[in-house]
Amino acid sequence: MRTVEWHNHGVRMIDQRLLPGRFETPVFHSYRDVARAIHEMVVRGAPAIGAAAAFGLALAGFESKAADRTQLLRDLEEAAQVLKAARPTAVNLAWAVDRLMRVAVSEDLESADDVRQALLNEAQKLADEDVEVNKRLGAFGATLVEDGDTILHHCNTGALATVDFGTALGVIFTAHAQGKKIHVLVDETRPRLQGARLTAWELKQAGIPFDLISDSAAGYFMRRGQVNLCLVGADRIAANGDVANKIGTYMLAVLAKENGVPFYCVAPTSTVDLTLAHGDLIPIEERSPAEVLNIAVAGEPAAPEGVSARNPAFDVTPHRYLTAIVTENGIVRPPYAKNLPRAVKNEL
Ligand code: MRU
Repeated sequence: MRTVEWHNHGVRMIDQRLLPGRFETPVFHSYRDVARAIHEMVVRGAPAIGAAAAFGLALAGFESKAADRTQLLRDLEEAAQVLKAARPTAVNLAWAVDRLMRVAVSEDLESADDVRQALLNEAQKLADEDVEVNKRLGAFGATLVEDGDTILHHCNTGALATVDFGTALGVIFTAHAQGKKIHVLVDETRPRLQGARLTAWELKQAGIPFDLISDSAAGYFMRRGQVNLCLVGADRIAANGDVANKIGTYMLAVLAKENGVPFYCVAPTSTVDLTLAHGDLIPIEERSPAEVLNIAVAGEPAAPEGVSARNPAFDVTPHRYLTAIVTENGIVRPPYAKNLPRAVKNEL
């Protein structure tokens, strides 16, 4: 099944908090529950939370008791705010909600029921497009991968982070399907271990050879010349090409430059935010310290009781550390301020 889909008048999602141990697919029947599921990371990954929010807004339309269009639009506006507030960094969330709201206010729709149906149609279209866009990303990205390459990958950017197929991991799936013999070094990705739990799960199912490494081992492998390229996703890309992505991405990018390893960000143009001039303007989510402190060794908490912790969920990699940004419309190279808008308009 897809990571996120419309099912039985609700939004069905793979509960990613439980993987790889348990595969459960709860259905959420209210938009507030969808917003909570995004916040609690039942669903995570920028494109996947965009699709979840789109279906969440469609659900809000059906939940509303409004008999006329004006009242329905008021209810939808409230739901849009709640959904957008679920997580701050990935711009796909606001992008998806705004796209649906533009449909909702369309003059062509006469009744409240017309709006409800149009929203569901648009959410479904957005989800279908995500899969198609990811396949295009995969095809462009795979041109950068050579037979025999070892690829370092951070976080989870696979089918689970999208509606299906994935972004950076989609490049790896594509290169593998093309018959290239590749090996992947999978960062664990502390503190929530998206690499160890989710990427390892996806690569294992796909039969792609990989080794799991601790995040701190990345420099060791790069310095020994054992990494040919790094592939990461993005949660938001500013107009100048600065990339907000899972915490640890910046460290990897600096190490990659130091060691002459190409560093590619793979993301759909829905992750590009041309309204922000540079990466320092991107809001960075700081999550609960418990995510850092909850690690146990031999059944005992690793840290002494009562210590404090900081838990920024993302960091910003300045564009000078990137070799290129792979989008569904082509591979974007510097100068990003000039070439990213062209990629967004599909005029590369
Ligand atoms: O906190 P998460 O798991 O939602 O963070 C996900 C990432 O940072 C991914 O690398 C990014 O969203 C790209 S996913 C296609």
